[in-house]
Amino acid sequence: MKHNTVLITGASSGLGRSLALTLARPGRMLHLGGRNETRLIETARQCISRGAGVDIARCDVADRQTMAEWVKSTGQLDLVLACAGITGGTRKPETPDDAPYEPDEQVRRFFATNMDGVLNTVLPAMALMRRQPRAADGMRGRICAISSVAGLVSYPGTPSYGAAKAAVDRFMVATGGNMKQAGILCSSVVCGFLNTPMTAQNRFPMPGMTDVDNASRRILRGLRRNERRIVFPLWLAAGSRFMDLLPIRLAEAYYTHQPTGAAGTMPEPDLS
Ligand SMILES: NC(=O)c1ccc[n+]([C@@H]2O[C@H](COP(=O)([O-])OP(=O)(O)OC[C@H]3O[C@@H](n4cnc5c(N)ncnc54)[C@H](OP(=O)(O)O)[C@@H]3O)[C@@H](O)[C@H]2O)c1
Repeated sequence: MKHNTVLITGASSGLGRSLALTLARPGRMLHLGGRNETRLIETARQCISRGAGVDIARCDVADRQTMAEWVKSTGQLDLVLACAGITGGTRKPETPDDAPYEPDEQVRRFFATNMDGVLNTVLPAMALMRRQPRAADGMRGRICAISSVAGLVSYPGTPSYGAAKAAVDRFMVATGGNMKQAGILCSSVVCGFLNTPMTAQNRFPMPGMTDVDNASRRILRGLRRNERRIVFPLWLAAGSRFMDLLPIRLAEAYYTHQPTGAAGTMPEPDLS
């Protein structure tokens, strides 16, 4: 797989940082994006110490124009990894007669970051790659967006996060059916819990937790094999698919009686 030039969003933390470090080596150029400059520079420093060339961009994935300009400015990309994301659950009811809820600003921010942010990365990358020559393996480039097992279910604990991730998965896999003719792989990662800062403060059991560096290696192996949907752990994804086939009443009866993601058990996201 040719991946001399790589662009990664969410490179300042967790999975994005792990992918950057796994890919960092002499002869490779890494374009790394994120909002937190200090953490982004730390990722860059570690990548440079492994011999990679690095260019950092401090940008919000929800800013369509800035993202388009950044992607275009790279000139050429072999691999794009859209990792930027934000999560959070429902808040506890405010009165005994009220219901668990997500603040409006949270709903809109999750869609803006996790769905529009992926489109703001993927669409300019596709436009760029369609004009590139094919490599020896016939490919013009590979684009991978991180969805989630949460996108496979209508889980009441994370409604907007799950919905945005579902949209990302459908879009990447479906548009990939067209793009393969142009030699562009569009791939979606449907993964379970990873041990990153995103999950560090969750106060509930997280079955199937995967080490983030193992997840990075699994994702890169899948991309080498041109997998359009990279899924792990398989048993968790299979269980989630099964839950989604059940009548909503039955699935909700289960969800509302188990601790994972119950209202008030996830840290409140920074919406500033
Ligand atoms: N951790 C899990 O259990 C898990 C499971 C399934 C899927 N995922 C997905 O995997 C991806 C990576 O998550 P992670 O676990 O590595 O979380 P993380 O450690 O919290 O990292 C999230 C990254 O996204 C960036 N980001 C967030 N909002 C952004 C914005 N508006 N613009 C630009 N960058 C933004 C953050 O950078 P700045 O703060 O510097 O902007 C950070 O680099 C996410 O898409 C997440 O939804 C995670």
